[in-house]
Amino acid sequence: MTKGYKMPKDFLWGGAVAAHQLEGAWDVDGKGVSIADVMTAGRNGFPRKVTDGVKDGEIYPNHWGNDFYHRYSEDDRLFEEMGFKCFRTSIAWTRIFPNGDESEPNEAGLKFYDDLFDDLLSHGIQPVVTLSHFEIPYHLVKVYGGFSNRKMIDFFVHFAKTVFKRYQDKVKYWMTFNEINNQTAWSDPHPLLQNSGLQLSKDDNWEQAMYQAAHYELVASALAVQAGHAINPDFQIGCMVAMCPIYPLTAKPADVMMAERAMQKRYWFGDVHCLGEYPKWLPKYFERKGFDMDITAADLATLKAGTVDYVGFSYYMSFVTKGRDGDSDYDFKEPDDFVENPYVEKSDWGWQIDPTGLRYAMNWMQDRWHLPQFIVENGFGAYDKKEADGSVHDDYRISYFRDHILAMEQAVVLDGVDLIGYTPWGCIDLVSASTGEMAKRYGFIYVDADDNGQGSFDRSKKDSFNWFQQVIVSDGEDL
Ligand code: BG6
Repeated sequence: MTKGYKMPKDFLWGGAVAAHQLEGAWDVDGKGVSIADVMTAGRNGFPRKVTDGVKDGEIYPNHWGNDFYHRYSEDDRLFEEMGFKCFRTSIAWTRIFPNGDESEPNEAGLKFYDDLFDDLLSHGIQPVVTLSHFEIPYHLVKVYGGFSNRKMIDFFVHFAKTVFKRYQDKVKYWMTFNEINNQTAWSDPHPLLQNSGLQLSKDDNWEQAMYQAAHYELVASALAVQAGHAINPDFQIGCMVAMCPIYPLTAKPADVMMAERAMQKRYWFGDVHCLGEYPKWLPKYFERKGFDMDITAADLATLKAGTVDYVGFSYYMSFVTKGRDGDSDYDFKEPDDFVENPYVEKSDWGWQIDPTGLRYAMNWMQDRWHLPQFIVENGFGAYDKKEADGSVHDDYRISYFRDHILAMEQAVVLDGVDLIGYTPWGCIDLVSASTGEMAKRYGFIYVDADDNGQGSFDRSKKDSFNWFQQVIVSDGEDL
């Protein structure tokens, strides 16, 4: 056993999921079709396809998830047994507003989350809720073009106010848009669709479209923050960024400058969320690129008035980049400008494993944004083998968590980072967002289901279950 550092008694240990990746029940109790419902199964190295509506003969893994919709009370009991103090999930927008543009919500959808939150609270677990986690109503994509359209601001704020009011006595910690910054790369076609509901081809001016959509999302987020605080001043409403620090390959000045620009391009979203302002470099970039942006003075005032209370972030990996000879624009492009890091290992899906990067990132964010932080995703996707006796010996996962939790504790105890909690991703096996696989497992709890939705969906504990329980009982000291 490794000796860690004791975390404060009120530290929020828990686990994280997203509605569309585990609930299943995609067309039950009045739920509408979301983006995730039209994404087919992919696999390691093969992206998912997006179909024009739900088509016969295609496989849509989010339609069944891990059947949490029908089994959550069994799962909540297991979470309590592990010692969870909180549980991060999202509200499927399409359960509340099936098409997204209705004025009246769907009562059956609201009731589902009432029941879920009540059940969690009865187990001493507080819900932590993301409003939009890659599950925009598909109707809003088809009819309005997603967040390319300013009207989306009103639809989102209406959704936010509806659930803020309904759950104001059950939920304290909220986040607006999951991994809002995970749309800066062109990769066919999901990041833009999942984050902003944009369906574009590479030939479209996708980069300008991304900046515009992100601007509308940031305005929507700032309005939601203000509305939430008016409904319940105790609400803590955060942003959610995908934190993957980007290092220079060498000390060569061009590599260092390229890494700086790479960080600017990935984290300006956080600057706007946390500081309420666009960083200086960005208008210059828009000008140089000839991007004609719809950003009004009223929008800028809204951004300033709707800054977040904390920085929610995911951390899985770091990246590395290098400068290009003779290029002083430093127009970093993801993923083309990434290079291999010779110093770290990778997962089976090529994700670089770098616990020190977590400590580095936490320090970097503390110095830049001066807000409390909340690690709302971290984890290791791996192929697990279930033994004949039902056990899963996932020592590789324990080892990943041990190293990352230690780095997190060092950031808190040695470096003074203000951290609210830690919710490992996919605490129960669920459908992978990028590939749609069940085989890419993150959980402490094994779910007996395969990529095609075959299996009993029974739950069982992996070795990491007992290990994480021990971590929580010891306040993070026994790793
Ligand atoms: C984050 C997302 O990008 O990473 C989650 O917020 C996602 O929705 C998680 O599941 C892990 O990624 P993947 O592709 O392995 O499921």
